[in-house]
Amino acid sequence: MRIDIVTIFPEFFSVLDVSLLGKARQSGLIDLGVHDLRDFTIDRHRTVDDTPYGGGAGMVMRAEPWGQALDGILDASLERGVFDPLIVFPSPAGDVFTQAMAQQLSSEKQIVFGCGRYEGIDQRVVEYAETRTRVKLVSLGDYVLNGGEVATMAMIEAIGRLIPGVVGNPASLVEESHSSGLLEYPAYTKPGNWRGLDVPPVLLSGNHGAIARWRLEQQLERTRRVRPELLPPELR
Ligand code: ADE
Repeated sequence: MRIDIVTIFPEFFSVLDVSLLGKARQSGLIDLGVHDLRDFTIDRHRTVDDTPYGGGAGMVMRAEPWGQALDGILDASLERGVFDPLIVFPSPAGDVFTQAMAQQLSSEKQIVFGCGRYEGIDQRVVEYAETRTRVKLVSLGDYVLNGGEVATMAMIEAIGRLIPGVVGNPASLVEESHSSGLLEYPAYTKPGNWRGLDVPPVLLSGNHGAIARWRLEQQLERTRRVRPELLPPELR
Protein backbone atom coordinates (compact mmCIF):
# COMPACT_ATOMS: atom_id res chain seq x y z
CA MET A 1 0.00 0.00 0.00
CA ARG A 2 1.13 3.51 -0.78
CA ILE A 3 0.45 6.04 2.00
CA ASP A 4 0.89 9.79 1.57
CA ILE A 5 0.61 12.28 4.41
CA VAL A 6 0.26 16.05 4.03
CA THR A 7 1.11 17.89 7.25
CA ILE A 8 2.84 20.95 8.65
CA PHE A 9 4.65 18.60 11.09
CA PRO A 10 6.44 16.03 8.91
CA GLU A 11 8.83 15.18 11.77
CA PHE A 12 5.84 13.90 13.73
CA PHE A 13 5.77 10.82 11.49
CA SER A 14 9.36 9.71 12.18
CA VAL A 15 7.82 7.11 14.53
CA LEU A 16 6.78 5.24 11.39
CA ASP A 17 10.47 4.25 11.05
CA VAL A 18 10.21 1.92 14.04
CA SER A 19 8.39 -1.23 15.12
CA LEU A 20 6.15 -3.35 12.90
CA LEU A 21 5.33 -0.51 10.52
CA GLY A 22 9.01 0.36 10.15
CA LYS A 23 9.68 -3.24 9.15
CA ALA A 24 6.74 -3.19 6.76
CA ARG A 25 8.26 -0.15 5.08
CA GLN A 26 11.68 -1.76 4.83
CA SER A 27 10.18 -4.86 3.24
CA GLY A 28 8.19 -2.74 0.79
CA LEU A 29 4.71 -3.72 2.07
CA ILE A 30 4.10 -0.05 2.90
CA ASP A 31 5.48 2.78 0.79
CA LEU A 32 5.28 6.08 2.67
CA GLY A 33 5.51 9.66 1.42
CA VAL A 34 5.37 12.51 3.97
CA HIS A 35 4.83 15.96 2.45
CA ASP A 36 5.40 19.27 4.22
CA LEU A 37 2.46 21.55 3.37
CA ARG A 38 4.76 24.58 3.71
CA ASP A 39 6.75 23.36 0.70
CA PHE A 40 3.67 24.22 -1.39
CA THR A 41 3.47 27.86 -0.29
CA ILE A 42 4.93 30.64 -2.41
CA ASP A 43 5.35 33.50 0.10
CA ARG A 44 8.49 34.26 2.06
CA HIS A 45 6.89 33.31 5.39
CA ARG A 46 5.52 29.98 4.07
CA THR A 47 2.06 30.91 5.33
CA VAL A 48 -0.49 28.10 5.51
CA ASP A 49 -3.33 29.82 7.40
CA ASP A 50 -5.44 32.96 7.40
CA THR A 51 -8.37 34.50 9.29
CA PRO A 52 -11.82 32.97 8.77
CA TYR A 53 -14.38 34.63 6.48
CA GLY A 54 -17.36 35.63 8.63
CA GLY A 55 -15.13 36.18 11.65
CA GLY A 56 -14.63 34.04 14.71
CA ALA A 57 -11.74 32.67 16.71
CA GLY A 58 -8.74 30.87 15.27
CA MET A 59 -7.25 30.50 11.84
CA VAL A 60 -8.24 28.45 8.80
CA MET A 61 -5.81 26.60 6.52
CA ARG A 62 -5.60 28.28 3.12
CA ALA A 63 -6.80 26.39 0.07
CA GLU A 64 -3.90 27.16 -2.28
CA PRO A 65 -1.05 25.19 -0.64
CA TRP A 66 -3.46 22.26 -0.16
CA GLY A 67 -4.47 22.41 -3.82
CA GLN A 68 -0.83 22.34 -4.90
CA ALA A 69 0.06 19.50 -2.54
CA LEU A 70 -2.90 17.34 -3.57
CA ASP A 71 -2.33 18.01 -7.28
CA GLY A 72 1.28 16.83 -6.97
CA ILE A 73 0.31 13.68 -5.09
CA LEU A 74 -2.58 12.82 -7.41
CA ASP A 75 -0.46 13.36 -10.53
CA ALA A 76 2.18 11.03 -9.08
CA SER A 77 -0.57 8.45 -8.34
CA LEU A 78 -1.59 8.47 -11.99
CA GLU A 79 2.00 7.79 -12.95
CA ARG A 80 1.96 4.81 -10.58
CA GLY A 81 -1.23 3.58 -12.22
CA VAL A 82 -3.49 4.40 -9.25
CA PHE A 83 -6.47 6.27 -10.67
CA ASP A 84 -8.65 6.80 -7.61
CA PRO A 85 -6.61 6.90 -4.40
CA LEU A 86 -8.64 7.54 -1.26
CA ILE A 87 -8.08 10.90 0.42
CA VAL A 88 -8.83 10.83 4.16
CA PHE A 89 -9.22 14.09 6.04
CA PRO A 90 -9.14 13.37 9.79
CA SER A 91 -11.88 15.51 11.31
CA PRO A 92 -14.12 15.36 14.38
CA ALA A 93 -16.93 15.95 11.86
CA GLY A 94 -16.23 12.69 10.00
CA ASP A 95 -17.49 9.10 10.23
CA VAL A 96 -16.13 7.41 13.34
CA PHE A 97 -13.12 5.15 12.70
CA THR A 98 -13.77 1.51 13.61
CA GLN A 99 -12.08 -1.86 13.16
CA ALA A 100 -14.50 -2.52 10.28
CA MET A 101 -13.36 0.70 8.59
CA ALA A 102 -9.71 -0.24 9.18
CA GLN A 103 -10.40 -3.59 7.51
CA GLN A 104 -12.00 -1.88 4.51
CA LEU A 105 -9.21 0.66 4.16
CA SER A 106 -6.51 -2.03 4.40
CA SER A 107 -7.37 -3.16 0.87
CA GLU A 108 -6.88 0.31 -0.68
CA LYS A 109 -3.96 0.68 -3.11
CA GLN A 110 -3.23 4.21 -1.90
CA ILE A 111 -4.48 6.43 0.92
CA VAL A 112 -3.63 10.12 1.22
CA PHE A 113 -4.05 11.59 4.71
CA GLY A 114 -4.59 15.36 4.82
CA CYS A 115 -3.80 16.60 8.32
CA GLY A 116 -5.61 19.82 9.19
CA ARG A 117 -4.60 22.15 12.01
CA TYR A 118 -6.08 25.28 13.55
CA GLU A 119 -9.85 25.58 13.01
CA GLY A 120 -9.74 23.34 9.95
CA ILE A 121 -9.05 23.49 6.23
CA ASP A 122 -10.90 25.78 3.77
CA GLN A 123 -13.93 23.66 2.82
CA ARG A 124 -13.25 24.18 -0.88
CA VAL A 125 -10.21 21.89 -0.55
CA VAL A 126 -12.55 18.99 0.27
CA GLU A 127 -14.89 19.98 -2.56
CA TYR A 128 -11.99 20.21 -5.02
CA ALA A 129 -10.53 16.87 -3.86
CA GLU A 130 -13.94 15.27 -4.49
CA THR A 131 -13.77 16.38 -8.11
CA ARG A 132 -10.49 14.49 -8.50
CA THR A 133 -10.90 11.27 -6.49
CA ARG A 134 -12.67 9.56 -3.56
CA VAL A 135 -12.68 11.53 -0.29
CA LYS A 136 -13.65 10.58 3.27
CA LEU A 137 -13.76 12.61 6.50
CA VAL A 138 -12.88 10.33 9.41
CA SER A 139 -13.06 11.01 13.16
CA LEU A 140 -11.01 9.11 15.69
CA GLY A 141 -13.73 9.61 18.32
CA ASP A 142 -15.88 12.14 20.08
CA TYR A 143 -13.14 14.42 21.35
CA VAL A 144 -11.16 17.27 19.82
CA LEU A 145 -7.46 16.91 18.98
CA ASN A 146 -5.22 19.81 18.00
CA GLY A 147 -4.91 18.49 14.48
CA GLY A 148 -5.14 15.45 12.28
CA GLU A 149 -1.64 14.07 12.94
CA VAL A 150 -2.40 11.87 15.96
CA ALA A 151 -5.58 10.60 14.29
CA THR A 152 -3.60 9.79 11.14
CA MET A 153 -0.99 7.86 13.14
CA ALA A 154 -3.68 5.83 14.88
CA MET A 155 -5.38 5.03 11.58
CA ILE A 156 -2.12 4.07 9.87
CA GLU A 157 -1.28 1.69 12.71
CA ALA A 158 -4.73 0.09 12.71
CA ILE A 159 -4.86 -0.19 8.91
CA GLY A 160 -1.19 -1.09 8.39
CA ARG A 161 -1.24 -4.14 10.64
CA LEU A 162 -4.13 -5.60 8.62
CA ILE A 163 -2.11 -5.57 5.40
CA PRO A 164 -1.16 -9.21 4.71
CA GLY A 165 2.44 -9.86 5.81
CA VAL A 166 2.76 -6.91 8.20
CA VAL A 167 1.86 -8.88 11.35
CA GLY A 168 4.03 -12.02 11.54
CA ASN A 169 1.40 -14.38 12.92
CA PRO A 170 -1.97 -13.79 11.24
CA ALA A 171 -3.71 -15.86 13.95
CA SER A 172 -3.11 -12.99 16.38
CA LEU A 173 -5.25 -10.76 14.16
CA VAL A 174 -8.14 -13.20 14.29
CA GLU A 175 -8.32 -13.63 18.07
CA GLU A 176 -7.93 -10.08 19.22
CA SER A 177 -10.37 -7.49 20.46
CA HIS A 178 -13.14 -6.40 18.15
CA SER A 179 -12.49 -8.94 15.40
CA SER A 180 -15.15 -11.16 17.02
CA GLY A 181 -17.20 -8.18 18.17
CA LEU A 182 -16.22 -9.00 21.78
CA LEU A 183 -13.45 -7.56 23.91
CA GLU A 184 -10.37 -9.74 24.32
CA TYR A 185 -9.95 -12.22 27.19
CA PRO A 186 -7.20 -11.54 29.79
CA ALA A 187 -3.74 -12.97 29.05
CA TYR A 188 -1.11 -14.40 31.45
CA THR A 189 2.46 -15.66 31.14
CA LYS A 190 5.08 -17.18 33.46
CA PRO A 191 5.55 -17.26 36.43
CA GLY A 192 2.37 -19.01 37.65
CA ASN A 193 2.45 -17.05 40.89
CA TRP A 194 3.61 -13.42 40.92
CA ARG A 195 3.57 -11.30 44.08
CA GLY A 196 0.97 -13.64 45.56
CA LEU A 197 -1.27 -13.49 42.47
CA ASP A 198 -2.07 -16.80 40.74
CA VAL A 199 -2.75 -17.51 37.09
CA PRO A 200 -6.36 -18.85 36.77
CA PRO A 201 -5.95 -22.65 37.27
CA VAL A 202 -7.97 -23.57 34.17
CA LEU A 203 -5.17 -22.15 31.99
CA LEU A 204 -2.76 -24.69 33.52
CA SER A 205 -5.21 -27.61 33.11
CA GLY A 206 -4.21 -28.58 29.57
CA ASN A 207 -7.96 -28.99 28.85
CA HIS A 208 -8.35 -27.08 25.58
CA GLY A 209 -12.17 -27.21 25.61
CA ALA A 210 -12.32 -25.83 29.16
CA ILE A 211 -9.78 -23.13 28.31
CA ALA A 212 -11.77 -22.04 25.23
CA ARG A 213 -15.00 -21.91 27.29
CA TRP A 214 -13.33 -19.92 30.08
CA ARG A 215 -11.92 -17.44 27.59
CA LEU A 216 -15.29 -16.93 25.92
CA GLU A 217 -16.93 -16.40 29.35
CA GLN A 218 -14.27 -13.81 30.16
CA GLN A 219 -14.88 -12.04 26.86
CA LEU A 220 -18.63 -11.95 27.48
CA GLU A 221 -18.23 -10.78 31.07
CA ARG A 222 -15.81 -7.98 30.09
CA THR A 223 -17.93 -6.85 27.18
CA ARG A 224 -21.13 -6.85 29.30
CA ARG A 225 -19.41 -4.81 32.00
CA VAL A 226 -17.45 -2.30 29.86
CA ARG A 227 -19.12 -2.14 26.42
CA PRO A 228 -22.64 -3.68 26.61
CA GLU A 229 -23.63 -1.82 23.42
CA LEU A 230 -21.31 -4.16 21.46
CA LEU A 231 -23.50 -7.16 22.36
CA PRO A 232 -26.74 -8.22 20.71
CA PRO A 233 -29.61 -7.31 23.09
CA GLU A 234 -30.23 -10.94 24.14
CA LEU A 235 -26.65 -11.26 25.48
CA ARG A 236 -26.50 -7.99 27.46
N1 ADE B 1 -8.87 16.43 14.38
C1 ADE B 1 -9.24 17.03 15.51
N2 ADE B 1 -9.97 16.22 16.27
C2 ADE B 1 -10.07 15.03 15.59
C3 ADE B 1 -10.71 13.79 15.84
N3 ADE B 1 -11.41 13.56 16.95
N4 ADE B 1 -10.60 12.83 14.92
C4 ADE B 1 -9.91 13.04 13.79
N5 ADE B 1 -9.30 14.19 13.50
C5 ADE B 1 -9.37 15.19 14.39
